[in-house]
Amino acid sequence: MGQEMKEDYFFWGAATSAHQVEGSNIHNDWWHWEQKTPSAHKSGLACDHYNRYAEDFALAKTFGHNAHRLSLEWSRIEPVCGQWNQGAIEHYRSVLSELRRLGLEPFVTLHHFTNPQWMAERGGWLNGKAVYWFERYVEKVVSQLGDLADFWITINEPMVYATHSYWHKKWPPKRRNFWEMSRVIRHMANAHEEAYRTIHKRVAGAKVGIAKSVVGYLPERDQWDDRLACRLEDWWYNQRFLRMTRGTHDFLGLNYYFTVKKRIQVWPPMFKALPWSGPKTDMDWPICPEGLEHVLLEMKQYGLPIYITENGIADAKDKMRSDYIRSHLRAVERVQAAGADVRGFFYWSLLDNFEWAEGFKPRFGLVEVDFKTQERRPRASAYVYRAIIEQARESGQL
Ligand code: BGC
Repeated sequence: MGQEMKEDYFFWGAATSAHQVEGSNIHNDWWHWEQKTPSAHKSGLACDHYNRYAEDFALAKTFGHNAHRLSLEWSRIEPVCGQWNQGAIEHYRSVLSELRRLGLEPFVTLHHFTNPQWMAERGGWLNGKAVYWFERYVEKVVSQLGDLADFWITINEPMVYATHSYWHKKWPPKRRNFWEMSRVIRHMANAHEEAYRTIHKRVAGAKVGIAKSVVGYLPERDQWDDRLACRLEDWWYNQRFLRMTRGTHDFLGLNYYFTVKKRIQVWPPMFKALPWSGPKTDMDWPICPEGLEHVLLEMKQYGLPIYITENGIADAKDKMRSDYIRSHLRAVERVQAAGADVRGFFYWSLLDNFEWAEGFKPRFGLVEVDFKTQERRPRASAYVYRAIIEQARESGQL
């Protein structure tokens, strides 16, 4: 597809990530942590997408998608430090070729939360060499697969990774240390910048960005101190990483799920999150499409094209998903009218999958997966999303 055409082309799709769908990612730190932690959920075969990707992409095609976001598993490509697995690279050549054959534009993520175990054993992202290791992996990937994708997402949600793993003790290595968290953020920022340059060196016309998690912040009361709490949270969580890496983004990839109501609490001093009285997802996440609108308007300041690289809902009964998608896309339409340059939307996720520390219970998929039989059952909302896409195409909106 020609570059000019992409400029006024809206990408519709869904997203996945390697460890959550592929199955048997035995060389990464998550797998190791799952095995050695009795209480941890085991990803096991996940959706067996490593073997069933063609069937899954064919479904995406029947849903009217013209793009797909996926991630490559670093630990498959480099299972041992400095040693490349050509078989894994060939596998991803087949995966990306299949997407192209079906007319699904690949958006390729290079890091989605998992690290090779050899890297974790050497301190992971705390190690000063992490930037070099990542850049070496990226160089390998783009030299071998660069002809098969134009859109590259270096790192998925660096702030989520750093806070969950080095502050909230939720994800491996389950640490709580402010200095370590800050170091990881800095290394990831540097790694993104290096990767940005490497990809551009190797892939003519590449578009490079990150997938940045963004949260909507809503002051509990309409008064200066609650507004200040929201501004500071927004600066730290939504903006800071983007500012640290300014000048190395061809687009902004934004992952939006929810909004939090905040107020300042004097003692103990904190920005307190208040209970949400409105509708919530199966993950207990507030549903607030206005938050997406707010965030998108704010992100206009960067003057970059925006892709919504994730937006979705855990909803096992599929009762709320259609409205969730509809209302968030309306928010996109409103910001488009206000001049924000949104060029794509990826529903999270194409398939029910391994939701990290929460295991297989939360159901985000357009497609229900029976994890015992690996049977795929498209949900009604997948067709509602298709109807929205068709309608938008016909009316020329989005
Ligand atoms: C992550 C996904 C995750 C989704 C739902 C995003 O933060 O990129 O890996 O499954 O949220 O929790």
